[in-house]
Amino acid sequence: MDLYEYQARDMFEKHGVPVLPGIVASTPAEAKAAAEKLGGGTVVVKAQVKTGGRGKAGGVKVVHNPADAEAAAAQILGMDIKGHTVHKVMIAAGAKIAQEFYFSVLLDRAQRRYLAMCSVEGGMEIEQLAVEKPEALARVAVDPLKGIDAEKAAEIVATAGFPAELADKVAAVIMSLWGVYDAEDATLVEVNPLVLTEDGEVIALDGKVTLDENAGFRHEDHEALEDKDAADPLEAKAKALDLNYVKLDGSVGIIGNGAGLVMSTLDVVAYAGEQFGGVKPANFLDIGGGASAAVMANGLDVILNDAQVKSVFVNVFGGITSCVEVAKGIIGALESLGDAATKPLVVRLDGNAVEEGREILAAAGHPLVTIVETMDGAAAKAAELAAAA
Ligand SMILES: Nc1ncnc2c1ncn2[C@@H]1O[C@H](COP(=O)(O)OP(=O)(O)O)[C@@H](O)[C@H]1O
Ligand SMILES: [Mg+2]
Repeated sequence: MDLYEYQARDMFEKHGVPVLPGIVASTPAEAKAAAEKLGGGTVVVKAQVKTGGRGKAGGVKVVHNPADAEAAAAQILGMDIKGHTVHKVMIAAGAKIAQEFYFSVLLDRAQRRYLAMCSVEGGMEIEQLAVEKPEALARVAVDPLKGIDAEKAAEIVATAGFPAELADKVAAVIMSLWGVYDAEDATLVEVNPLVLTEDGEVIALDGKVTLDENAGFRHEDHEALEDKDAADPLEAKAKALDLNYVKLDGSVGIIGNGAGLVMSTLDVVAYAGEQFGGVKPANFLDIGGGASAAVMANGLDVILNDAQVKSVFVNVFGGITSCVEVAKGIIGALESLGDAATKPLVVRLDGNAVEEGREILAAAGHPLVTIVETMDGAAAKAAELAAAA
């Protein structure tokens, strides 16, 4: 789970990372009040969206009085930044920046340890820095059993090339950021920029934190950080039904059993869709192994409620799941939907009890259901139906 900057800021503060005061606002009036509360002087109005590059997109504005904070918030709220609509802004105290640095620590799965990255050249996007000036980005492996202790922090700042007079200060902040990473079970803590102010303070001016949801059971307070409003309502529904569902942009709804089969189904649909003007999959939905008729019906319910879906491709290879259950699930779901079911379904069944499954579907003779025996054939049919709708 990714956090908003303001949530990361609060978490940093809790763990003793130096941050500036910040107040969240959802309306221009709240933004004005927040600017007043921060003393009425210079503040920064920052879009709260879970994507980087807000500054470049015009989502970070420095203003010098509460009236201008209100105006800037009015401009930023509702803005679209890389496909994310801004619903909140943070009013942050303005820093007098002398220098900008970069620091992050993340899980390095391939190396089975953590990786700290640090640079005396912050501000720039890290991807760009890594490509254009790889020598300026220190990469220091972190032993997960030891973490970032004083010695490791000293190694990181030395490798990054901080001058001696800054080294201890930056190392101390890095250790407190490690405290966040470790105590909160994060998989990423990134600060860009970490700044040196004109007063000689080292402060985290931006914060990106990704929490490991697998460790959620250890952190009751993390649930409150979840962004329930922003979650897609269908994704929320699927989650409540324990389905593995991901919404995509296309128009062919996909239901399969097993992640591997669903992924290859996405590929064959995208491929077949090229013949029909670029029809694409609308989602990824894995009903899993051993799915019952009820699970199948739940899956269909989620997919058919997606307004972007024009046709549905049910692609099931019966292993533990019997094709009889799948067929019953489809018929059951269509019955309970009644007249609300208006989208064509292409069904390809194979494997365990395939003949019986196909017979159940054929006997039901539902006008929306087309049975196709091969995966490629079914993908083409589903794409064709979606294009025609
Ligand atoms: N509180 C602040 N005071 C002064 N300048 C700031 C403040 N917050 C951000 N900035 C400036 O705006 C830039 C972009 O802000 P940042 O929070 O890093 O957003 P993003 O990384 O999404 O562009 C920073 O590099 C910094 O120069
Ligand atoms: Mg930043």
